[in-house]
Amino acid sequence: RNVYHYDQVESTNSTARELAARGVPNGTLVVAEEQTGGRGRMGRGWFSPHGRGIWCSVILHPAVNPMDAPPLTMLAAVAVARALRRAAGVEAGIKWPNDLLVGEKKICGILTELSAEMERINYLIIGMGINVNIDRHEFPPELREIATSVQIERGRRVSRVPLLQNLLAELEYWYRLWEKEGFAPVLACWKELNVTLHRPVRVFTQRETWEGWAEDVDADGSLVLRLPGGEYKRVVSGEVSLRA
Ligand code: BTN
Repeated sequence: RNVYHYDQVESTNSTARELAARGVPNGTLVVAEEQTGGRGRMGRGWFSPHGRGIWCSVILHPAVNPMDAPPLTMLAAVAVARALRRAAGVEAGIKWPNDLLVGEKKICGILTELSAEMERINYLIIGMGINVNIDRHEFPPELREIATSVQIERGRRVSRVPLLQNLLAELEYWYRLWEKEGFAPVLACWKELNVTLHRPVRVFTQRETWEGWAEDVDADGSLVLRLPGGEYKRVVSGEVSLRA
């Protein structure tokens, strides 16, 4: 496997983008000990202290339409959840579309970026940030109530290497299954691990906020909300608050 390991980068997603533009094989991994400008969704940052987490990006060349990107991000969430279980003993649930939570606190975030032209994906970058050996007081104050780590959940430090190895094996397994059988088996596993469905939620999209019942996730990964009036609303991308 093609692996690029760095001590420090601004963002593994940005490094992965540069490598992808130059041309690297499918499945190339970029991993860094530290990110000086780790990026999160919605223009936020991502706290990425040296040696304390798995800050990595995988470069994929799926032969599909950009519309199929959300399922691939959900596939990554399934892989991380299973790796956390098997290699770190942490039971994380998936909040739509791809946040990993323990209780209400986030242990991993995923940021997907893609380059596409003519309805085709050139490359897809799946960036994953897993908080591993971070103590509660090491998080900045604004994250302390909303973030957690493997160390906090297990009460001890754990080695990152087996976790990363497991994650890569899971990613490969689910990616190959997706190539062969499509999104359905991935979605079935995602639903088993999810903590969003069948409860009241608030959903923030770029322009609007919706409140309703999280009814289902459909075949392309959209969240199906039942609104108070009884009508249904499909949300393609957004952020869910479970404290509706
Ligand atoms: C989120 O907001 O939940 C997404 C966070 C994604 C963080 C990871 S860390 C590795 C990769 N590089 C980045 O700059 N971001 C992602």
